[in-house]
Amino acid sequence: MSTAARFDFAPLLPAGLPAPAARWTGLAKYSFVGGNIDPDQVPVDALLDALSAVLKREGKMLATYGLAHGPQGYRPLREFLAAKLKRDAGIACTDDDIMVVSGSLQALDLVNATLLTRGDTVLIEQETYQGALNRLTRLGVNVVGIPLDQEGMRMDALAAALADLKRRGVTPKYIYTIPTVQNPTGSILPETRRAEMLKLSQQYGVPVFEDDCYADLIWNGQRPPAIHAMSRHGGVIHIGSFSKSIAPALRVGFIVAPWEMMSRMLALKTDAGSGALEQMALAEFCAPHFSTHVPKLTRGLRKKLDTLMEALNEQFGTAAEFEDPKGGIFLWVKLPDNVDTLKLYQAALAAGVAINPGPEWSVNKPHGRSRMRLCFASPTHDEIRKGIATLAEVCHREFGVPARISNVTR
Ligand SMILES: Cc1ncc(COP(=O)(O)O)c(C=O)c1O
Repeated sequence: MSTAARFDFAPLLPAGLPAPAARWTGLAKYSFVGGNIDPDQVPVDALLDALSAVLKREGKMLATYGLAHGPQGYRPLREFLAAKLKRDAGIACTDDDIMVVSGSLQALDLVNATLLTRGDTVLIEQETYQGALNRLTRLGVNVVGIPLDQEGMRMDALAAALADLKRRGVTPKYIYTIPTVQNPTGSILPETRRAEMLKLSQQYGVPVFEDDCYADLIWNGQRPPAIHAMSRHGGVIHIGSFSKSIAPALRVGFIVAPWEMMSRMLALKTDAGSGALEQMALAEFCAPHFSTHVPKLTRGLRKKLDTLMEALNEQFGTAAEFEDPKGGIFLWVKLPDNVDTLKLYQAALAAGVAINPGPEWSVNKPHGRSRMRLCFASPTHDEIRKGIATLAEVCHREFGVPARISNVTR
């Protein structure tokens, strides 16, 4: 029996595609990767009630693209956001200044598609969100990494980079920052630095692109005003998400931008609207429950962080260095210089532990080499302890680090 030769797509693929994806093989037994949250903190019952109530009341609107609320998204959700942004972040905007998008990743794509072309330059925190970094690399954009300290992006370094680029005749397209619980370092940019950033933004004519998706997850609930809120010149694009406060699989994020940018991004958002059920359920849930849900969530996250820091101290001793982050779901860990976390990642994965190797979260690959990012939100307390114990064993076997654990030489 003859079999037909398999159709070959390879000659048809245009140049410049990203490398093909690997097949999904499931989560590792001990998964410290990605931006997943705590499954026990998803308000499933309340979301069910919310969805049921809103569908009974307004379900017939699903007959119309965009629920007849226009391309910027379900209006009650935008109204909730406008009130929340005013209360928590000091942003004075109305629902007309907000666009609901399919996760803040779509926000990154829309802002980039509106502003960037190959060969452009952007300024970005040296340690940053891999999703932002990969997009820029793929677009052929020059990425200038600005070093961070415990308080976030260093303004002296930002000023020096802007001055240097100006001398070379380069005007960057934006300053991308995650100022409120930085990914991966967990810092919060103080108000004074925010003001300095805005001054530099104005001086050099470079807008600020503020990614605030962790801003709800602060242990003491205290946050500085958003950079957007402090701006007098309107040169700030602000994005946020429900992924970290409610659930990432919902895929609901948002953009606050002046109409000059919003109108351009709307012209590029050609997907006929983001998922309606998610927007309806969120609006119905959030209006009465968001402000009581979040403190519960952060209390649980803080406990998991404590477990992770204890486990690291116990298993790695002084070999693992880290700052106690002010919120969020990640711990950024420095291991001794001889540890290559890209290699550690491979060896740990074979033992059932998934970590994010530092170089993937850094513009400065040598700086990221001995660092790793650990997400503590999704594993259980027990998984955190066991996963870190396994990681220490693998790291000891591969790199001789840690040499001693709890005064026991390995
Ligand atoms: C800084 C930052 N921005 C954006 C995103 C994308 O989030 P989402 O598309 O789920 O809203 C993430 C996800 O981890 C992130 O860490």
